[in-house]
Amino acid sequence: MRKLLILSMCLQLYIGSECSTLPKKIKKCHFGDATCIRDTANALIRSFPKGIPSVGFKPIDVVHVKDTVLINDRQVGGAWYFFDLLNQINYGFENTTITEIKGFDEDPSLTKIEVKGHLPRLIYRGTYNAQGRLLWLININSSGVSESEFLNFHFDFTLKVQTEYRNNKRYLKIYQLVPNISVDRWIQWLENFFPENTDLTIFINKIFNANWVEFWNELEKPILEVFTGVFLSIIEDIFHNVSYDDMFLSNKYENNDN
Ligand SMILES: *[C@@H]1O[C@H](CO)[C@@H](O)[C@H](O)[C@H]1NC(C)=O
Ligand SMILES: *[C@@H]1O[C@H](CO)[C@@H](O)[C@H](O)[C@H]1NC(C)=O
Ligand SMILES: *[C@@H]1O[C@H](CO)[C@@H](O)[C@H](O)[C@H]1NC(C)=O
Ligand SMILES: *[C@@H]1O[C@H](CO)[C@@H](O)[C@H](O)[C@H]1NC(C)=O
Repeated sequence: MRKLLILSMCLQLYIGSECSTLPKKIKKCHFGDATCIRDTANALIRSFPKGIPSVGFKPIDVVHVKDTVLINDRQVGGAWYFFDLLNQINYGFENTTITEIKGFDEDPSLTKIEVKGHLPRLIYRGTYNAQGRLLWLININSSGVSESEFLNFHFDFTLKVQTEYRNNKRYLKIYQLVPNISVDRWIQWLENFFPENTDLTIFINKIFNANWVEFWNELEKPILEVFTGVFLSIIEDIFHNVSYDDMFLSNKYENNDN
């Protein structure tokens, strides 16, 4: 009976670990080997733009973003504004180049994990709702298709992680992700902003695009919140599904492999 129990436990462990290892063609790195880890990350991105469903690596060519309230000014005085983005999808992360990765040491809690990269063009498409009033004069109450294009999108993010044990293996749990982002240009098109006046819609979009830096600076906080969610959604499930000990090769002489 005891033997049977052990056998079935091993079987479970075996199947469990078989199901959650990265494909063989992806080169495994030693813990903390920054150059190797960066190259492997790039190989993963290049080879699997549609993700690897069996390990929870989600598609990166089409990234769904949760609905976001970008502006929610208090509705007072002559100018108030509400702007939210719905059903947003990001296109272009499959063209990401990772330039630097730090951390991922044998004990991941000791050093800060940092990931840096860039992509030539990030498209952000969905629908928007806008409500507001400009200078007591113009009422805004519109919704429609919105599309943003971020050129030369540079990002980095730092992670704070904990490890948790499952089946005697360590899994990373992210408890904080802090992103930093810069772009060379933000081009936006809000369709139908003034439903009854196409000229005014074009005019407003022109104003926006001519002054995108001000909007970017003004909206930096909610934008960073959006991308915190985006980066988390890309990496969180991999760490949840593939154990940290299976992702990397140990630097210790004692081999922990079964
Ligand atoms: C990966 O983890 C997520 C939860 O983070 C879970 O919903 C999903 O089913 C897992 N996928 C696999 C293949 O284990
Ligand atoms: C990603 O790169 C490919 C190949 O260069 C290109 O065809 C595609 O348009 C790029 N994606 C985006 C969103 O720019
Ligand atoms: C805004 O427009 C929607 C439909 O386009 C309408 O139902 C709603 O009452 C309008 N809100 C205001 C404050 O005018
Ligand atoms: C964010 O990135 C910019 C350059 O891209 C840099 O100047 C700035 O110091 C970074 N901020 C943080 C908090 O890392």
